[in-house]
Amino acid sequence: MTLNPQAVQLNDILEKCNPALLRLLSRHGREMFFPKADILKQTADAKGKKINATIGIALADDGSPMYLPSLAQYVKLDPKEYIPYAPAYGVQKLRETWAKLLREKNPTLGQKMMTCPIVTSGMTNALAIAGYLWGNPGEKIILSDKFWGNYRGFFERNFDMEFSCFNTFQDGHFDLESFEQKLAEDGVGKKIVLINMPNNPSGYTVTEEEAKQVMDILKRSAESGNELVVICDDAYFGLVFEEGVLTESLFGYLADLHENILAVKVDGLTKEEYMWGFRVGFLTCANKNLTPEAVEALENKIVGSIRSTVSNCSLIAQNLALHAFESPTYASEKKKNFETLRGRYIRTKEVLEKNKEKYAEFFSPLPFDSGYFLCIEMKQVDPEAVRQKLLADFDTGIISTGNMIRIATSACPVDKIEELFENIYQASKISKVKC
Ligand SMILES: Cc1ncc(COP(=O)(O)O)c(C=O)c1O
Repeated sequence: MTLNPQAVQLNDILEKCNPALLRLLSRHGREMFFPKADILKQTADAKGKKINATIGIALADDGSPMYLPSLAQYVKLDPKEYIPYAPAYGVQKLRETWAKLLREKNPTLGQKMMTCPIVTSGMTNALAIAGYLWGNPGEKIILSDKFWGNYRGFFERNFDMEFSCFNTFQDGHFDLESFEQKLAEDGVGKKIVLINMPNNPSGYTVTEEEAKQVMDILKRSAESGNELVVICDDAYFGLVFEEGVLTESLFGYLADLHENILAVKVDGLTKEEYMWGFRVGFLTCANKNLTPEAVEALENKIVGSIRSTVSNCSLIAQNLALHAFESPTYASEKKKNFETLRGRYIRTKEVLEKNKEKYAEFFSPLPFDSGYFLCIEMKQVDPEAVRQKLLADFDTGIISTGNMIRIATSACPVDKIEELFENIYQASKISKVKC
């Protein structure tokens, strides 16, 4: 396919900024751009004009968006804040607010150069865009062997990428050696790495000490000539429950670690801000050599992907979130939810410790210190059989996956946690007898 002149221009900007940024793009990534003459762009140009006959929405005679009062009666916002289309890049004020929050929550990121977060339709959309822009069919994506199952949906099934998994744990700790070995496989060249912490399903985040070593490994890999896209899936950011565990995103460290590393941050309102059904995620990039022109070029390619798939994202969700961020009670409300989840985490640790020997016959927990979940590794019993038994006879639901059971303590009241584990134990006992 002949490249569109606009795509060529963006690619030239990226190459001039840092040739690695161009080399890292997939074939689709090189082709992608947000058309200058796009309807959304022309509509934005016409904003505020006396006569504006641009975009395909219906306006009342006074120029306000048409809407149905039967809907509006349920919404406190001005219809202008939720009826029209959202800008393709996302609501500018929300993007700037999120960028400011990122810098506050990640002191290591500080004022390092990055793109302004682009709004995506949930984090799934942001991850899929990352796969589209940086992953070619047949290319490997390096990730831990404990991963969110839906990664297969877009990286494997949509983009034909191959999973190359390292061992997540060794002797109760993050397996740094396995991580380094995976990076060294297949000689020097392009590497795509995905790091999800706090992790789904394990509920693990590296310690500060381990994080330093992860950074050293990535830096050594870049210094030896590899060019890396490192995607940080920060879906569960902020939910760290133990001292000494990394509370910042690795993105802040990666942002200027080495010119051969493109850091890609995926985060959003879904888990971190307790807005699951809002479908608002963000995609942000950084690189040591980033220039303002390259920032614009990367943003343009990301928005081109949005425009050509979901077109633009929910306006009502973006503006509601913005109002929440501006509320004087926002911080205390968030802290309250955090404390509830932390309370469940502490109770889970207590229950597991108290019954350690008893439970060891059928299961033992994998390391966990953060996020929504933990995993228990099953022995002598089939996790799926235990799940069926729990549903049928114990009024209890969990997720079975491979040789493990994933437990969402995020969804379990603190006074039910002991009962939950006791049920798993009893269901295992019955399932073993049946085996
Ligand atoms: C690790 C991880 N990343 C991303 C997502 C997707 O989030 P969203 O619902 O915003 O698409 C999930 C959802 O479960 C997740 O567990």
